This record gives sequence, C-alpha cells and structure tokens, in this order.
Amino acid sequence: MSAEARANPLAQFFLRNQGRLIHKWQHYFEIYHRHLERFRSRSPVLLEIGVLQGGSLKMWRDYFGEGVKIIGVDIDPRCRQFEDDATTILIGDQADPAFLGEIRARFPHIDIIIDDGGHTMLQQITSLGELFPHLQPRGVYICEDVHTAYLDEWGGGLRRPGTFIEFSKALIDALHAWYFAPAGEELDLYTTGTFGLSFYDSMVVIEKRPIEVPRVSATGKAVY
Ligand SMILES: C[S@@+](CC[C@H](N)C(=O)[O-])C[C@H]1O[C@@H](n2cnc3c(N)ncnc32)[C@H](O)[C@@H]1O
Repeated sequence: MSAEARANPLAQFFLRNQGRLIHKWQHYFEIYHRHLERFRSRSPVLLEIGVLQGGSLKMWRDYFGEGVKIIGVDIDPRCRQFEDDATTILIGDQADPAFLGEIRARFPHIDIIIDDGGHTMLQQITSLGELFPHLQPRGVYICEDVHTAYLDEWGGGLRRPGTFIEFSKALIDALHAWYFAPAGEELDLYTTGTFGLSFYDSMVVIEKRPIEVPRVSATGKAVY
C-alpha cells in the first residue's frame, strides 16, 4: 500500500486491525473516504450487506464515530453474534424483495448503503432496485466487487446483458434523460434524484441529491 493510501483513516484501521477479520480490496479505502467523509461524526445510519466475520462493521464504527447506527445484513445466521449497542444484524437474502421491504419498513432513515454481499448480478441489481429509492435524498449507495460482472461464475461476461455493469451503464443515460426524454414523460430517480455516478475498479458509487431542471447561463462579455 502506498504512503498516501496508508494516511487514510480506514486504511489505518484496517492495517492496525488485530480484531475481527475484515475483507476488503486495498484500493477501496480511498474511494470510501472520498464519498463518505462528510458523514463522519454526523451520526449516520449505515447499512452494509455482507457481514462475514463482522470486521468491517467495527471499522465503520471507528470511522463514523460513536453516534453511528449500523445495520448489517447477511444470509448467514452466524452473523447474529456481531450485534451490539450500535449494530443491528438482519438475517436474510439480499435478492429477496420481501426481505428488503421489511428492512425499509423497519429502518425508515438510511444514509449510506454498501453492498458487499454475494456479488451475483441478481443480488446486486435487486438490492439496488429495492433500496436505492429508500436511501435518504442525499445518501450514498456503494456497490462493490462489481468486477464479478465480467466473470462467468457470477453470472457475468464482457458486455453480457443483465450484468450489474450493463445495468449501471444504463444509469448514465438515465442521468441525462433531461436531454432526450419526450416532453411530459415522468423522469425517474436516476435523473431527478441523482447527483452523480462514479465508476472505479470494482466499485460503483451513486450519490443521491434532489436535482433541479438543469439550466445553462453565461456571465461576462464576449470578446469575439
Ligand atoms: C465479502 S463477504 C463480506 C465481507 C465484509 N463486509 C468485510 O468487509 O469483512 C460477503 C458476505 O455476504 C454474505 N452473502 C452472500 N450471499 C448473500 C445474500 N444473498 N444475501 C445476504 N448476504 C449474502 C456472505 O454470507 C458473506 O458473509
């Protein structure tokens, strides 16, 4: 890890970690910090799909500070043991819309969602579809390990229809629907409620924000 990467507070926690196992790609820490720093010490509600040994839940608690509320979701009931005063563990399948509906009903306010679950196409797309609309209007949704969209055993393949990457590419069009949607057509949340999409190696970050109809203007004097 580079000296610059080591200066990152998440990387520092990760490198110091002698406690519960954390399983993350090293380049993720810089990306998390870039998009999540504004939530530190602001008591955010974070939902992470994929608990495994519970190590990342500890890392988030350290990073966001004492007021953070963490919801860990996993299909493996052994993860229940990682529940504590700041952490609720929910056992279920991230590809099950009914389970995700129960999460929405139980937790009306969620600021950050990190999908580090099973990484199949169905899981990633279902979780995004069910949970993104529920995320707070200025929340952040992170789907990680999206390189599985290129791997056959995960249901992926280069430019294969139905992968999370192909789904995400379509969101680029949705972000720009202001410029091509027929007049009067209702625009969806990826147009009216999305500030930006960021693509990194193996990670897609979607930042929500209420968006006004884009307007172009100019100031100053023309010189030719
Ligand atoms: C990569 S690990 C999570 C690592 C953890 N976030 C960390 O950073 O240490 C993936 C986890 O997703 C869980 N998982 C797999 N399929 C799932 C599903 N359909 N729904 C919910 N969780 C699932 C697995 O049981 C496993 O614990």
